[in-house]
Amino acid sequence: MHKIIITGGTGYIGSHTVVEFQNAGFEVVVIDNLSNSQVEVLDGICNITGIRPVFHKADVSDADEMEKVFSIHSDAVAIVHFAAYKAVGESVQKPLMYYRNNLNGLINILSQMQKNNIPGLVFSSSCTVYGQPEVLPVTETSPVVKPESPYGNTKKISEEIIEDTIKADQNIKAILLRYFNPIGAHPSSEIGELPLGVPNNLLPFITQTAIGLRQKLMVFGSDYNTPDGTAIRDYINVVDLAKAHVIAVQRLINDKQVNNPEVFNIGTGTGNSVLEIIKSFERSTGEKLNYEITERRAGDVEKVWGDTTKANNILGWKAEVSLDETVKSAWNWEKKLRGKL
Ligand code: NAD
Ligand code: WQD
Repeated sequence: MHKIIITGGTGYIGSHTVVEFQNAGFEVVVIDNLSNSQVEVLDGICNITGIRPVFHKADVSDADEMEKVFSIHSDAVAIVHFAAYKAVGESVQKPLMYYRNNLNGLINILSQMQKNNIPGLVFSSSCTVYGQPEVLPVTETSPVVKPESPYGNTKKISEEIIEDTIKADQNIKAILLRYFNPIGAHPSSEIGELPLGVPNNLLPFITQTAIGLRQKLMVFGSDYNTPDGTAIRDYINVVDLAKAHVIAVQRLINDKQVNNPEVFNIGTGTGNSVLEIIKSFERSTGEKLNYEITERRAGDVEKVWGDTTKANNILGWKAEVSLDETVKSAWNWEKKLRGKL
């Protein structure tokens, strides 16, 4: 059985990914410092798969702690590295906290891979590296720009750190996955997104409003150059996204890479506006959403969606779950959280 280390494995995308690796027969080791997640997530994982992953509460940005954890798991075949801070607005206020956590974490992971001869890395990058693309849909060869936020910049710099490390050491093999907007929850409602405080992201704000935790959703801007005037994103189901990581690791361990690193967009290939997401929510759940159109949010791009042909053809991966089903899974998760399912 192949052993895989998943950093950030109690987080939103990480927890869904742990489940998919366990389903695929991997032995999973989770490293997370619980700075943005809860240890009870492991119960949810165990309720789905019947397997509790080995868990280390440890900080990836702490070199000594990583030295200890990796000495126990030097037999891992690959690392899936999610652990990072991700709040765009907070990163503008506290840039050094973001650079320190996200970049030191990656550097420690790469150092431990070298030291322990662990060859494979799958890295969580983001469509934020494309900024506002001039041509849509955006492909992996579209220009990478300096992102608007320090958070986004940590993703751009991380990609560069990985590329430079590979140039110097071809033993390291990496796949960079550029996610678009992950939404939804596991169909079992055992795991899902757990935003701390007031959510920044659209879907948790919608479900918290519908359940009565927030008064109304503010739709940020209706004067964009889009068919209905609201901004467009590529919303990708979190379980579909999780599955892409398993395929990426299998590609690494089976030596199937044609470039090193390889980069893939992971999205649906389709853009949806904020109003379309609201309609999907109302249609799929039968709930009415209280919302109001307001000013644009600073830093938002107008529209972005991904060309996923490369992931479809080369990884053999494709988004499968429909938007309505995905949005409904987020609603079921919200109800479960509030004891209403
Ligand atoms: P999340 O906050 O739910 O998960 C990240 C996990 O990493 C959390 O459990 C947190 O406790 C942990 N963590 C943070 N810093 C750590 C550290 N120093 N040591 C150990 N653990 C640490 O976020 P997510 O939405 O699951 O995102 C996972 C990854 O995907 C992140 O790298 C994020 O930047 C990237 N990403 C997320 C999105 C998105 O919209 N959710 C989009 C693109 C890329
Ligand atoms: C989606 C759309 C908002 C909340 C962020 C990061 C990006 C990536 C994904 C990590 C936008 C609108 C939102 C609300 C609204 N993360 N909206 N009312 O901004 O596309 O991307 O998460 O890498 O880097 O920037 O996602 O969910 O915040 O917003 O109208 O209360 O919903 O304006 O058009 P975003 P989001």
